[in-house]
Amino acid sequence: MPDIESLLKEKRVFEPSADFTKRAHWSKRKADALRKLGAQNPEKFWAQMAEEHVTWFKPWRKVLDWKPPYAKWFVGAQTNVAYNCLDRHVEGEHAWRRNKAAILWEGEPGDTRVLTYAQLHREVCKFANVLKGLGVAKGDRVAIYMPLVPEAVVAMLACTRIGATHSVVFGGFSAEALRDRVNDAGAKLVVTADGGYRRGKAFALKPAVDEALDGCPGVSAVVVVKRTGEPVSMKAGRDHWWDALMATVSADCPAAKLDSEHPLFILYTSGTTGKPKGILHTTGGYLTHVACTTKAIFDLRDDDIYWCTADVGWVTGHSYVVYGPLAVGATVFLYEGVPTYPGPDRWWSMIEKWGITILYTAPTAIRTFIRLGDEHPKKHDLSSLRLLGSVGEPINPEAWIWYHRVIGGKRCPIVDTWWQTETGGILITPLPGAVPTKPGSATLPFPGIDAAVLDEAGREVPARAGGFLAVRRPWPGMLRGIWGDKKRYEDTYWSKWKKIYFPGDGAHRDEKGYFWILGRVDDVMNVSGHRIGTMEVESAIVSHEDVAEAAVVGRPDEITGTAIVAFVTPRAGMRAGRELMDEIRAHVTKHIGAIAKPADVHFTDALPKTRSGKIMRRLLRDIAAGKETVGDTTTLEDYSVLAKLRESEE
Ligand code: WT7
Repeated sequence: MPDIESLLKEKRVFEPSADFTKRAHWSKRKADALRKLGAQNPEKFWAQMAEEHVTWFKPWRKVLDWKPPYAKWFVGAQTNVAYNCLDRHVEGEHAWRRNKAAILWEGEPGDTRVLTYAQLHREVCKFANVLKGLGVAKGDRVAIYMPLVPEAVVAMLACTRIGATHSVVFGGFSAEALRDRVNDAGAKLVVTADGGYRRGKAFALKPAVDEALDGCPGVSAVVVVKRTGEPVSMKAGRDHWWDALMATVSADCPAAKLDSEHPLFILYTSGTTGKPKGILHTTGGYLTHVACTTKAIFDLRDDDIYWCTADVGWVTGHSYVVYGPLAVGATVFLYEGVPTYPGPDRWWSMIEKWGITILYTAPTAIRTFIRLGDEHPKKHDLSSLRLLGSVGEPINPEAWIWYHRVIGGKRCPIVDTWWQTETGGILITPLPGAVPTKPGSATLPFPGIDAAVLDEAGREVPARAGGFLAVRRPWPGMLRGIWGDKKRYEDTYWSKWKKIYFPGDGAHRDEKGYFWILGRVDDVMNVSGHRIGTMEVESAIVSHEDVAEAAVVGRPDEITGTAIVAFVTPRAGMRAGRELMDEIRAHVTKHIGAIAKPADVHFTDALPKTRSGKIMRRLLRDIAAGKETVGDTTTLEDYSVLAKLRESEE
């Protein structure tokens, strides 16, 4: 993980190549002019973006209505996200895209599918009619719990077409996690699949849905895509096969004219308490933000084959797999499985085979490939690539340089994009034809974004001084709230300073104003680019009957960025040991999902606490980072002794 010291030593600068700059949608001139407009008159800038990138059914009365911390964008306007992603590519001015591939898909076993814009449009219209037939109306919530198959995209777009609000739950989450999310959102329908493929094996999803729905009285229907063909049980009256329903409906379904602030989706993300937050995004502002950033930052053109490796279960999958790229009429590649099946060169063979031109992925994947060795990418012709992107966590300069050299053949600009589930779209990023890059820096705010590094009192800190990342003005893709929890929205993001958004990250800027993101400053870990709350894992662990108390911290990990470390005090009379450790890990997997499973479990007689009873997390982080052994610290240790020593030092 980068620390301030090592980042400050990073002096390399990569200028955009003349070739790239010449062809870029946003030339240096255009970028400079828009940056100026965005600073002087952000509302005018965003209005220009909204006109250029979105088709509206009805114009807005007002660009922004800002009653901190509540924003409304493009007030009074009407549009539809599915219309923008589909209809305008099959009719009118751009009707020539009808037969252009919208989705190129490859399953893990190697099966492939291609959907043109006309075909995707048709599937979405049909599934929208399926939803209507099952009683889903505008404003209703639909949960989507699927592997990465084209039907997941169809389901999302079908919801937006009729104004239903989707809540995609990552397929790696457990039945319990699904149940909590379905209930919190009040979803009345679940779209799922029998299962999917991972690491060469079929995994099941439908049984988890069955288990979850035992405790979801509000769900009246389940639609199941047949992917693996493994046997599943179908509950009469509730469960329906996707194909059977699709065969019964018409392909005619007009896009609903939706208010600009109509709820588009809810996406759950971890916070500092045990309960995930349902981040709410709405229609017109979000679409404007993702469409214009996609075009400007990935420089997407009609002949590109664009691959963002995220799953649709994460915000990256929403904004930069589905909505941004389809809004600009791109060809999107999707891959169902793990990067290393059947061999360590799976990704590179697909880039060669499909002629992928843009690759957007996470530092953890890059570090995994570094570890696997250069020979795997080198076996393949990667010369189709012309732009690379990084997202999810700070990218260490070593990984940046490797990505640039081995994958990008030194010719591809790298866009290191900083943003969050809450921000909806990218906020800090290079513009590939205009902004020189520095390995490890997300560079500059996107035009119209007023990002800064502030101290506790809200004052801007001088260059090279560490502080808190902040966004001082509202932006169109920003979250509109936490589903059902106004107070948490206000407290989490808007209470540190007045009328300024606090993302929870630390950062500093260099003399050129470049941002260097230092990671979370709250009790949230970033594991492989995914956010996991320490409290969430703690409450899962203490729900195990043999556990008295638990504290969870992150420790730096070469591949995943952060690894989860649990300190556990067993109940009196319960033996600490390998068996309990395995049970605890299985328990966390059951409650949250495998991504939250602790890498190490340390057993301790007592947790180190201050006199007022607060767990000394800083001390635990030191202990966690100092341990080289992975996963098998099964002896009972008394860390409270260490705490006492430390306290007497202070
Ligand atoms: C957190 C947001 C944005 C989609 C994926 C994660 C970290 C994200 C970067 C970056 C440094 C980054 C931040 C942020 N993060 N991108 N380019 N450089 N850090 O979305 O789960 O909402 O997590 O990821 O810490 O707060 P998320």
